[in-house]
Amino acid sequence: MLEARSAVMNLHTYRPPLAGRQGLRLDFNESTVGCSPRVLARLRALDAEALARYPEREPVEAVAAGFLGLDPAQVLLTNGVDEAIHLLCSTYLDPGDEAIIVVPTFAMYALFAQAEGARVVELSAGKDFAFPLAEVLARIGQRTRLIAVANPNNPTGTVVAQDVLLQIACAAPHAAVLVDEAYFEFHGETILHHSTRPANLFVARTFSKAYGLAGLRIGTLAGDAAQMAMVRRGASPYNVNAVALAALPEALRDQEYVSRYVAEVQSGRDLLERELRTLGLCYWPSRANFILVRIGAARVQFIQSLRVRGILVRDRHTDSGCEGCVRLTVGSEEHTRTLIDALREVVQKLREHGEVKA
Ligand SMILES: Cc1ncc(COP(=O)(O)O)c(C=O)c1O
Repeated sequence: MLEARSAVMNLHTYRPPLAGRQGLRLDFNESTVGCSPRVLARLRALDAEALARYPEREPVEAVAAGFLGLDPAQVLLTNGVDEAIHLLCSTYLDPGDEAIIVVPTFAMYALFAQAEGARVVELSAGKDFAFPLAEVLARIGQRTRLIAVANPNNPTGTVVAQDVLLQIACAAPHAAVLVDEAYFEFHGETILHHSTRPANLFVARTFSKAYGLAGLRIGTLAGDAAQMAMVRRGASPYNVNAVALAALPEALRDQEYVSRYVAEVQSGRDLLERELRTLGLCYWPSRANFILVRIGAARVQFIQSLRVRGILVRDRHTDSGCEGCVRLTVGSEEHTRTLIDALREVVQKLREHGEVKA
């Protein structure tokens, strides 16, 4: 039998639970209302000629760079942030190098780093998922070539201060430091424009969340122009398809649509946190479009009871430090109210049966 590289053979298969997702999707932190109607109109106007051509990324890259206030040489459009992570790993990691991550966090950092044959150093977050800066600084060594931080973090919704991220990047000039800002819009703070952003610091953004374009697979990676030239070498010239490239400029132009949705998510997040407090459930205050809640031993019944009511949420029990936890995506105001109504019923029922502590 033809054998794959040992680094690949050692990977665990990562299969997100995508099957049977009928209902209100509060399980993958997607937008619950979808993209701007102006984006849909643009897509409907595509013709056979647009699809027959190989996609030209650069003009749209220039638009994205302009939107981010950067030079096009500093920006790469990617097939989602997933590809940005993959490219960073293949650009900077040799077998035996080390990648530092703080867990719990987004699964793809470890997966793509391991695929390169790198050793993933997992450091546990502190109490209430506090970022363990001292441990990270202490663990940086000669072989550290990647440090990835989701900010806000998934699945916790917690954030890391910018000076902490800069401190890490300065302490590891020989490592690529990825600040994954997939949930930037819901947080509102970015390290992208920091005046002292070092050359080894990269920022990733996605259009899968606030922009409602997860199905198109488009994101950006931004960084120092010389470093980005290296990352670009390993990317396919056609990594982003023509449909996604056609959609992006219109999506960026309709900021009013995105801002309105983000405002709904932010007020829904407050509403949901208040409700969780009223219900006496343990949760972690979030700066993203989701909230992590500790349900405890009844989490499987909890998830199932919501599913019966047409609401999908994500089990995070197996993530480090997340025993008994479930992640709830915050969607539009209407969808958050639907979730809250269902939560009241489900928690009351589980309490009547003694499944959830009062
Ligand atoms: C922190 C983080 N980064 C990246 C992604 C994936 O983004 P994309 O859809 O652009 O690949 C996710 C998706 O859940 C995420 O939570």
